[in-house]
Amino acid sequence: MKIVGGPSSSELAYKIGKAIMLPVVKTRTKRFPDGEFYFKFDEEVSGEDLLIVQSLYPPQDSHLIELFMMIHTAKDLGARSIISFIPYLAYSRQDERYLDGECVSSVMIAKILEDLGVEALYTIDIHNEKVLKHYKIPTFNLTAAGELAKYFASKNLKEPFIIAPDDEEMAISRAEYAAKTINAEYDYLRKERDRYTGDIRTFAKRMNVKDRDVVIIDDIISTGKTAANAARILKKQGARRVFAGVSHALLGKNALKTLREAGIEEIAGTDSVTNEFAKVSVAPVIIEALKKKINL
Ligand code: R5P
Repeated sequence: MKIVGGPSSSELAYKIGKAIMLPVVKTRTKRFPDGEFYFKFDEEVSGEDLLIVQSLYPPQDSHLIELFMMIHTAKDLGARSIISFIPYLAYSRQDERYLDGECVSSVMIAKILEDLGVEALYTIDIHNEKVLKHYKIPTFNLTAAGELAKYFASKNLKEPFIIAPDDEEMAISRAEYAAKTINAEYDYLRKERDRYTGDIRTFAKRMNVKDRDVVIIDDIISTGKTAANAARILKKQGARRVFAGVSHALLGKNALKTLREAGIEEIAGTDSVTNEFAKVSVAPVIIEALKKKINL
């Protein structure tokens, strides 16, 4: 097997390749003056089994077309098989048609990836696991929660406590997994989102957090409101320090300000999103998963 790193995840691809001693395929990319993408393999891929690594954080649509072009070219040049590792699988909110006439974007992406010839898909902490039911190829939703918990545990936390900032099943199981990894306690908060305004409300409840260091574990931070609401509740109940560990630190406009004002001391994301918060790598998570499936 060889690894191909797309423009959004080239460093992650090298990290994976280095860790398991797999070669990273040389490629050439550029943007034309009008913005169109150019992609070229700089070495033979005919007959090769390829792991194509490309995360779909913003700008999602640019990263998507880059991914499609890499897969198409690999197949076109005779690659034997293609596994796609897409740490952040964008468009995973729209798993069905909620309003008449809507595009079910997750279905469209599944169809294109399969039509292009992807044989298996690996992703990290997908926003909505229901999206994966639209795929006919094998799909694997992995979690970075354990790696995030280990990162914070290495900071000498005082009686660490893990919190899921909402009560979705996946959010709770991520928090549980993170807590188990570092042998800590965990709990969750109930959150409601207004379907029309998008505003969120988090309901306070008594938690055993007084004088303890708390880590909020979530899949995404976008506006920062979910984590900020949780942090305010935790601080009010006497939490000593509050941190946020997030698989995909998308951090939209004002998110950082919102999080800091709520008292969050540090935000750690993963290299699913290439930014200054990528303090934890998802490389060990995908390597572990690949080892189970493929004879590496
Ligand atoms: C909720 O459904 C997700 O797990 C995240 O909590 C949510 O996407 C975070 O979004 P925001 O930062 O905009 O509150």
